[in-house]
Amino acid sequence: MSPSPVTFTTPNLPATYSWEATNEGVAARYGLPIEQVVRFDLNTSPTPPAALAEMLAAGEWETVLSEYPPGDYRRLVEAAAARYGVAPSEVVPGAGADEILDLCTKAFLPFGGRAVIPVPSYAMYRVDTEQHGGVPVLVPRLPADDGFAMDLPAVRAAARDASVVWLCNPNNPTGAEEREGAIETLLAGIATDAAQTGRAPAWVIVDEAYAEFTGRSAIPLRHMHPNLVVVRTVSKAYALAGLRVGFAVATADTINRIALYRPPGSIGTISVTVAERMLREPEAMLANVARVQAERPRMVAALAAAGLRPYPSVTCFVLVDMGSPDRAAEVAEFLMRRGMVPRTFPQRHPAAHCLRLTVRAPHENDRLLEAIADFTAGAA
Ligand SMILES: Cc1ncc(COP(=O)(O)O)c(C=O)c1O
Repeated sequence: MSPSPVTFTTPNLPATYSWEATNEGVAARYGLPIEQVVRFDLNTSPTPPAALAEMLAAGEWETVLSEYPPGDYRRLVEAAAARYGVAPSEVVPGAGADEILDLCTKAFLPFGGRAVIPVPSYAMYRVDTEQHGGVPVLVPRLPADDGFAMDLPAVRAAARDASVVWLCNPNNPTGAEEREGAIETLLAGIATDAAQTGRAPAWVIVDEAYAEFTGRSAIPLRHMHPNLVVVRTVSKAYALAGLRVGFAVATADTINRIALYRPPGSIGTISVTVAERMLREPEAMLANVARVQAERPRMVAALAAAGLRPYPSVTCFVLVDMGSPDRAAEVAEFLMRRGMVPRTFPQRHPAAHCLRLTVRAPHENDRLLEAIADFTAGAA
């Protein structure tokens, strides 16, 4: 009998969507103290900047919290613009990249419009598309041996009658980057097709939630391609997921279209203040990136030594082929019983035979690797 799948449904959400289990939910289900629960499923970093503690201790938060944040987020926007090398008019902030994705959907996807998604990819593209009454057009990515790259001709063809193309680069959950020049080639192809048909080109939204781990970005393409929107966040490399701060970067005209849908105060005052400083002082982020880059090969090597098949990754997580969906579910259950939460995928998902594991702090990774070694020893 195959083990019960490790999925959780949150009551009160539509039956079609379920978010990740909470730490409380995992602790209760497996009878564990909550402190034992470690998230290997959320691609966060357990190393918040050292300056954070100092800021939180010194900040006069009472007075800050009794007022709304500034409606234009001017200082935060200026800090982000300086960090990404663009003008402040080319940035709009949101409550995490997730709110930016939602704003882009509102701005660019008409009811019944088509949205192209090279799959597998970040689940929210489909959720946002469906929540807004759009039609997801799923285009399978190339196989692992081709680096899970998007199928460029197929994506271009699907974009001809679409309003939006969702791209994730580097891609979650594969951990791989598109080939050099691929996004530029796609944008050029979409522009050519649009010129030939007289139809407006699809909006191409490139989610770069993990871009700091590679240092590469599509941002410089925005002037040539005003239908490009790049999405950034402080959740991953900056280790500040709880702040909920993200950005869209595009030409000023494109930003104005997105900003039309922005609520005035979705980013809290503490988040605005902390994110502004961390964007201006990127040392902690760079140290975190270096830490992940040092830790990832160690994790990959240990997973391979345990007989698993980790795919190459340029990000803060690794997709690992477990051999079959049943075995992936078994390992997940084994890890969860020890308080470690991997990312699992539903049965019919293209990555159903895989688990996705975040590269966390060395001692946490050790705990994970030990558990996996125990599993494989027990299974042998
Ligand atoms: C590709 C991608 N985009 C966006 C997000 C969400 O980012 P944020 O925390 O900024 O909402 C995630 C988080 O897992 C992600 O993997």
